[in-house]
Amino acid sequence: MANDLTVFLGELFRRPTEVSAIAPSSPSVARKMTEGVENVDGPIVEIGPGTGSFTRAILDRGVAPERLTLMESNDRFCETLRERFPGVTVLNRPAQEIAQTGLKDVGAVISGVPVLARPQIQREVVGEAFKVMAPNGIFVQITYSPNTPIPDEMQARLGVMSVKRGTVWTNLPPARVFEFRAVQH
Ligand SMILES: C[S@@+](CC[C@H](N)C(=O)[O-])C[C@H]1O[C@@H](n2cnc3c(N)ncnc32)[C@H](O)[C@@H]1O
Repeated sequence: MANDLTVFLGELFRRPTEVSAIAPSSPSVARKMTEGVENVDGPIVEIGPGTGSFTRAILDRGVAPERLTLMESNDRFCETLRERFPGVTVLNRPAQEIAQTGLKDVGAVISGVPVLARPQIQREVVGEAFKVMAPNGIFVQITYSPNTPIPDEMQARLGVMSVKRGTVWTNLPPARVFEFRAVQH
Protein backbone atom coordinates (compact mmCIF):
# COMPACT_ATOMS: atom_id res chain seq x y z
CA MET A 1 0.00 0.00 0.00
CA ALA A 2 1.43 3.44 -0.96
CA ASN A 3 2.20 5.75 1.95
CA ASP A 4 0.07 8.80 2.77
CA LEU A 5 2.46 11.38 1.34
CA THR A 6 2.84 9.56 -2.00
CA VAL A 7 -0.92 9.22 -2.47
CA PHE A 8 -1.49 12.80 -1.32
CA LEU A 9 1.10 14.39 -3.61
CA GLY A 10 -0.17 12.39 -6.59
CA GLU A 11 -3.68 13.78 -6.07
CA LEU A 12 -2.36 17.28 -5.37
CA PHE A 13 -0.90 17.30 -8.91
CA ARG A 14 -4.10 15.86 -10.38
CA ARG A 15 -6.57 18.15 -8.56
CA PRO A 16 -4.71 21.07 -6.95
CA THR A 17 -7.77 23.24 -6.21
CA GLU A 18 -9.64 20.50 -4.39
CA VAL A 19 -6.68 19.09 -2.46
CA SER A 20 -5.33 22.54 -1.65
CA ALA A 21 -2.60 21.51 0.84
CA ILE A 22 1.00 20.42 0.45
CA ALA A 23 0.86 17.39 2.76
CA PRO A 24 -1.55 15.41 4.94
CA SER A 25 -2.27 17.04 8.32
CA SER A 26 0.04 16.07 11.18
CA PRO A 27 -1.07 13.93 14.15
CA SER A 28 -1.03 17.09 16.36
CA VAL A 29 -3.58 18.82 14.13
CA ALA A 30 -5.61 15.63 14.00
CA ARG A 31 -5.73 15.54 17.82
CA LYS A 32 -6.85 19.19 17.96
CA MET A 33 -9.49 18.62 15.25
CA THR A 34 -10.97 15.62 17.02
CA GLU A 35 -10.96 16.86 20.64
CA GLY A 36 -14.21 15.89 22.32
CA VAL A 37 -15.61 13.57 19.64
CA GLU A 38 -15.54 10.78 22.20
CA ASN A 39 -18.29 12.66 24.12
CA VAL A 40 -20.55 13.30 21.13
CA ASP A 41 -23.81 11.40 20.60
CA GLY A 42 -25.09 10.21 17.23
CA PRO A 43 -23.38 9.83 13.88
CA ILE A 44 -20.08 11.57 13.10
CA VAL A 45 -19.28 12.74 9.57
CA GLU A 46 -15.85 13.63 8.28
CA ILE A 47 -15.76 15.65 5.05
CA GLY A 48 -12.63 15.96 2.90
CA PRO A 49 -10.71 13.19 4.72
CA GLY A 50 -7.96 12.84 2.08
CA THR A 51 -5.71 9.99 3.20
CA GLY A 52 -7.34 9.80 6.65
CA SER A 53 -5.25 11.77 9.18
CA PHE A 54 -8.37 12.89 11.05
CA THR A 55 -10.15 9.56 10.48
CA ARG A 56 -7.41 7.72 12.36
CA ALA A 57 -7.59 10.22 15.23
CA ILE A 58 -11.40 9.92 15.47
CA LEU A 59 -11.13 6.13 15.74
CA ASP A 60 -8.23 6.41 18.20
CA ARG A 61 -10.57 8.35 20.49
CA GLY A 62 -12.78 5.28 20.73
CA VAL A 63 -15.52 6.15 18.22
CA ALA A 64 -16.93 2.92 16.73
CA PRO A 65 -16.23 2.68 12.97
CA GLU A 66 -19.95 2.09 12.33
CA ARG A 67 -20.76 5.59 13.62
CA LEU A 68 -18.41 7.28 11.19
CA THR A 69 -19.21 8.36 7.61
CA LEU A 70 -16.59 9.87 5.32
CA MET A 71 -17.53 12.10 2.36
CA GLU A 72 -14.64 12.52 -0.07
CA SER A 73 -14.96 13.81 -3.63
CA ASN A 74 -11.69 12.23 -4.83
CA ASP A 75 -12.09 8.63 -6.01
CA ARG A 76 -8.45 7.64 -5.40
CA PHE A 77 -8.55 8.89 -1.82
CA CYS A 78 -11.76 6.89 -1.35
CA GLU A 79 -10.03 3.68 -2.45
CA THR A 80 -7.26 4.30 0.10
CA LEU A 81 -9.77 5.10 2.86
CA ARG A 82 -11.77 1.90 2.21
CA GLU A 83 -8.61 -0.21 2.43
CA ARG A 84 -7.42 1.49 5.61
CA PHE A 85 -10.59 1.84 7.64
CA PRO A 86 -12.77 -1.27 7.50
CA GLY A 87 -16.23 -0.73 9.01
CA VAL A 88 -16.24 2.99 8.25
CA THR A 89 -18.72 4.17 5.58
CA VAL A 90 -16.83 5.86 2.73
CA LEU A 91 -18.97 7.89 0.32
CA ASN A 92 -17.36 9.10 -2.90
CA ARG A 93 -19.63 12.15 -2.87
CA PRO A 94 -19.08 15.87 -2.37
CA ALA A 95 -19.78 17.26 1.07
CA GLN A 96 -22.42 19.49 -0.55
CA GLU A 97 -24.63 16.36 -0.65
CA ILE A 98 -24.58 15.66 3.09
CA ALA A 99 -28.32 16.37 3.41
CA GLN A 100 -29.02 13.64 0.82
CA THR A 101 -27.24 10.87 2.73
CA GLY A 102 -30.15 10.09 5.06
CA LEU A 103 -28.03 10.97 8.11
CA LYS A 104 -29.65 13.07 10.83
CA ASP A 105 -28.91 14.29 14.36
CA VAL A 106 -25.23 14.29 13.43
CA GLY A 107 -23.17 15.02 16.54
CA ALA A 108 -20.03 16.30 14.84
CA VAL A 109 -18.77 17.19 11.38
CA ILE A 110 -14.98 17.22 11.06
CA SER A 111 -13.99 19.19 7.97
CA GLY A 112 -10.82 19.22 5.88
CA VAL A 113 -12.68 20.71 2.90
CA PRO A 114 -11.03 24.01 1.90
CA VAL A 115 -13.59 26.74 2.64
CA LEU A 116 -11.37 29.82 3.02
CA ALA A 117 -12.35 32.64 0.61
CA ARG A 118 -14.90 30.36 -1.08
CA PRO A 119 -18.32 31.79 -0.20
CA GLN A 120 -20.20 29.36 -2.42
CA ILE A 121 -18.54 26.36 -0.73
CA GLN A 122 -19.20 27.94 2.68
CA ARG A 123 -22.92 28.20 1.88
CA GLU A 124 -23.20 24.80 0.25
CA VAL A 125 -21.02 22.78 2.62
CA VAL A 126 -21.42 24.44 6.03
CA GLY A 127 -25.03 25.48 5.38
CA GLU A 128 -26.05 21.97 4.30
CA ALA A 129 -24.19 20.31 7.19
CA PHE A 130 -26.15 22.28 9.79
CA LYS A 131 -29.40 20.97 8.25
CA VAL A 132 -28.55 17.43 9.43
CA MET A 133 -26.77 18.23 12.67
CA ALA A 134 -28.19 17.85 16.18
CA PRO A 135 -29.02 21.22 17.83
CA ASN A 136 -25.85 21.04 19.93
CA GLY A 137 -23.73 19.53 17.14
CA ILE A 138 -20.25 20.83 16.39
CA PHE A 139 -18.68 21.59 13.01
CA VAL A 140 -14.87 21.62 13.26
CA GLN A 141 -12.86 23.22 10.45
CA ILE A 142 -9.12 23.32 9.72
CA THR A 143 -7.71 26.44 8.10
CA TYR A 144 -4.29 27.96 7.43
CA SER A 145 -5.65 31.45 8.08
CA PRO A 146 -5.08 32.98 11.55
CA ASN A 147 -8.68 34.23 11.49
CA THR A 148 -11.97 32.44 11.08
CA PRO A 149 -12.21 30.99 7.56
CA ILE A 150 -15.87 32.02 7.42
CA PRO A 151 -16.41 35.78 7.75
CA ASP A 152 -18.78 37.09 10.44
CA GLU A 153 -21.32 38.19 7.82
CA MET A 154 -21.51 34.70 6.32
CA GLN A 155 -21.70 33.15 9.81
CA ALA A 156 -24.70 35.38 10.54
CA ARG A 157 -26.36 34.31 7.27
CA LEU A 158 -25.79 30.65 8.11
CA GLY A 159 -26.94 31.11 11.72
CA VAL A 160 -23.65 29.90 13.21
CA MET A 161 -20.89 31.27 15.40
CA SER A 162 -17.28 30.20 15.80
CA VAL A 163 -14.61 29.89 18.44
CA LYS A 164 -10.94 29.27 17.75
CA ARG A 165 -9.69 26.07 19.36
CA GLY A 166 -6.07 26.92 18.73
CA THR A 167 -3.06 26.94 16.43
CA VAL A 168 -0.78 24.00 15.73
CA TRP A 169 2.55 25.61 14.84
CA THR A 170 4.32 22.33 14.15
CA ASN A 171 2.08 21.53 11.17
CA LEU A 172 3.34 22.37 7.68
CA PRO A 173 2.00 25.02 7.19
CA PRO A 174 0.84 26.04 10.72
CA ALA A 175 -2.82 25.11 11.05
CA ARG A 176 -5.71 26.68 12.96
CA VAL A 177 -8.77 24.85 14.18
CA PHE A 178 -12.16 26.57 14.47
CA GLU A 179 -15.34 25.13 15.98
CA PHE A 180 -18.77 26.28 14.72
CA ARG A 181 -22.11 25.84 16.47
CA ALA A 182 -25.64 26.87 15.59
CA VAL A 183 -26.77 30.07 17.27
CA GLN A 184 -29.49 29.09 19.75
CA HIS A 185 -32.60 31.32 19.69
C1 LIG B 1 -6.57 19.99 2.34
S1 LIG B 1 -7.04 18.31 1.92
C2 LIG B 1 -7.27 17.69 3.59
C3 LIG B 1 -7.09 16.21 3.72
C4 LIG B 1 -7.08 15.67 5.16
N1 LIG B 1 -8.28 16.03 5.89
C5 LIG B 1 -5.87 16.19 5.92
O1 LIG B 1 -6.04 17.17 6.67
O2 LIG B 1 -4.79 15.65 5.73
C6 LIG B 1 -8.69 18.60 1.34
C7 LIG B 1 -9.49 17.34 1.05
O3 LIG B 1 -10.86 17.71 0.78
C8 LIG B 1 -11.31 17.01 -0.37
N2 LIG B 1 -12.40 17.81 -0.92
C9 LIG B 1 -12.31 19.03 -1.53
N3 LIG B 1 -13.54 19.49 -1.83
C10 LIG B 1 -14.43 18.55 -1.38
C11 LIG B 1 -15.84 18.47 -1.36
N4 LIG B 1 -16.59 19.43 -1.86
N5 LIG B 1 -16.42 17.39 -0.80
C12 LIG B 1 -15.66 16.38 -0.26
N6 LIG B 1 -14.32 16.42 -0.26
C13 LIG B 1 -13.71 17.49 -0.80
C14 LIG B 1 -10.08 16.88 -1.24
O4 LIG B 1 -10.19 15.86 -2.20
C15 LIG B 1 -9.02 16.57 -0.18
O5 LIG B 1 -9.01 15.21 0.15
